[in-house]
Amino acid sequence: MIILKSQEEIERIAKSCDIVARALNAVRDIVRPGIATEEIESFVDAYIRSNNAIPAFKGYRGYPASVCTSVNNEVIHGIPSDRVLKEGDILSIDLGVYKDGFYGDAAYTFPVGRIHSDAERLIKITEEALYIGIEKARIGNRVSDISHSIQRHVETNGFSVVRAFVGHGIGSELHEEPQIPNFGVPGRGPRLRAGMTLAIEPMVNQGGYEVLIRDDGWTAVTVDGKLSAHFEHTILVTLDNPSILTKID
Ligand code: CO
Repeated sequence: MIILKSQEEIERIAKSCDIVARALNAVRDIVRPGIATEEIESFVDAYIRSNNAIPAFKGYRGYPASVCTSVNNEVIHGIPSDRVLKEGDILSIDLGVYKDGFYGDAAYTFPVGRIHSDAERLIKITEEALYIGIEKARIGNRVSDISHSIQRHVETNGFSVVRAFVGHGIGSELHEEPQIPNFGVPGRGPRLRAGMTLAIEPMVNQGGYEVLIRDDGWTAVTVDGKLSAHFEHTILVTLDNPSILTKID
């Protein structure tokens, strides 16, 4: 069942999303060569709690941290550790907030210092794919119109979309219906309606789309060892343009 949100519910989701967006923006300023991913974890955990909110991921299905830190060939769900970032790495940060009964969720891939132009292009195309997908989140379209537009942009540019993980509805649960794949033919799946809140999250690989899960039970990595990027926004379908709730204004 897809839950359409009331105005009051939307306001609460928007508040959680605002904390998510500001936390991601603050992370931008601390990402640099020499920082360990567990330092980013402490920073984000403290940031969320200082906003009287709860880190949504900690304890979710046993996930051990408040943020996901996925480096280079790590696609998503990288667990913060003593790994120290170095110049040229790319770092995907995914974080979620729970406050007053509702969730917000977003992700961003940051360059660490100066990076290779191929990595820059991967990041750029992934972010563009997210915005192209969001643009399709309109009444009259169906879920797979989002999926298809993302896949098309990614593959036209020579990259691949990860198929093993999908975007999702979001609200009083972190993961609600509908699932939002980042690939597929257009015109399929549920019709989009005003009041739907969706987390759209393309994961894009430089090489093949295949991923595997490391022995830690969480970290998804590319099978071919090539780079991967991830961008995510929580958005609201409206009678007018899609509204990006995790955007920093
Ligand atoms: Co998500």
